[in-house]
Amino acid sequence: MLKRIKVSDLKVGMYVELPSAWHAHPFIRNNFTITSQKQIDKIVEHGILEVNINVDKGVSAPEESALPRREEPQEDLSAKVIAEKLKEVIEDKSIEPQPKAQAVHLYSEKMISKLLEKPTGENIAQFKKDIVNVVDLILEDDATSNHLRKLTSYDYDTYIHSVNVGVYGVSLAKVVFGRSDGHDMHALGAGFFLHDIGKVYVDEAIIKKPGRLTDEEYELVKMHPVWGAKVLMTSEKLLDIGRFVLHHHERYDGRGYPDGISGNAIPLASRIICVADSYDAMTSQRSYRTPFTPQQAKEELKRNKSIQFDPEIVDVFLSLDSESQEVPIPSGETDINLANRIWDSSKR
Ligand SMILES: [Fe+2]
Repeated sequence: MLKRIKVSDLKVGMYVELPSAWHAHPFIRNNFTITSQKQIDKIVEHGILEVNINVDKGVSAPEESALPRREEPQEDLSAKVIAEKLKEVIEDKSIEPQPKAQAVHLYSEKMISKLLEKPTGENIAQFKKDIVNVVDLILEDDATSNHLRKLTSYDYDTYIHSVNVGVYGVSLAKVVFGRSDGHDMHALGAGFFLHDIGKVYVDEAIIKKPGRLTDEEYELVKMHPVWGAKVLMTSEKLLDIGRFVLHHHERYDGRGYPDGISGNAIPLASRIICVADSYDAMTSQRSYRTPFTPQQAKEELKRNKSIQFDPEIVDVFLSLDSESQEVPIPSGETDINLANRIWDSSKR
């Protein structure tokens, strides 16, 4: 529950929700727990008079200090402003790796969500240019890219998943391809972020359906790599990306889709996405099931070496420093639940 209070009533331990406009306050994130008096001073110095606190997530305030609620106007940033903000955050050397990773993740999500609203060839080409900074950051700044990999999502949406797969994908490609091939890494990186773009052509009710899909629904979902490739291939410059997006659901044993190709016949970048995609699907929260812990998901990757996944890519993934936040599994978890979750992750 939100409570509106004067900034003079702010205390350490309160969870503050600041206006969503990034220029309206001096912090990277809009919502966070106050951990020091210094942060309160910063809010005061910025001329903010009243703030919302979320009393479910932090220390509450006495009843007498509650003010009438007022909704903050939501800021709808344009894709261009988001891209500029992202660049600004990446280039700011004074930001520590962890808040930097959080901000980059947040702005990348916003960029992808904007793109999915209108995935035209022109917008995709622009996105490819804008995401270059994120790819460079993952390639060059190990500390921030480690933090980026540690960020797990609790709300599962196509664009959050896209950012996660993008980050895992670039981290994997960095080891698999080495650092020498900078230019291609930008194209690869854009493709990793855009691998599920074809989902915008699948009925949203099917994408968001909790639980198992019917056979007909699953057949429609299985079309998303084809539709994604089609959108990307409208531009000659995106042809290669289209090709590896087309094959991101092929399996190493040939039992995947759309073409059922196997082993090294699957483009290397598609094999990378397959591992990154499955790992994120297994460790992400869905409304109808609890997620795997990172350790359980890694065990599944190992178990499916040479079946679903390229064994070498799995080994590279396991060698990355990807100690994500542990998500507790409720007691009473059974093997059947685990088996169902593997099915859920493999059907995407
Ligand atoms: Fe997919």
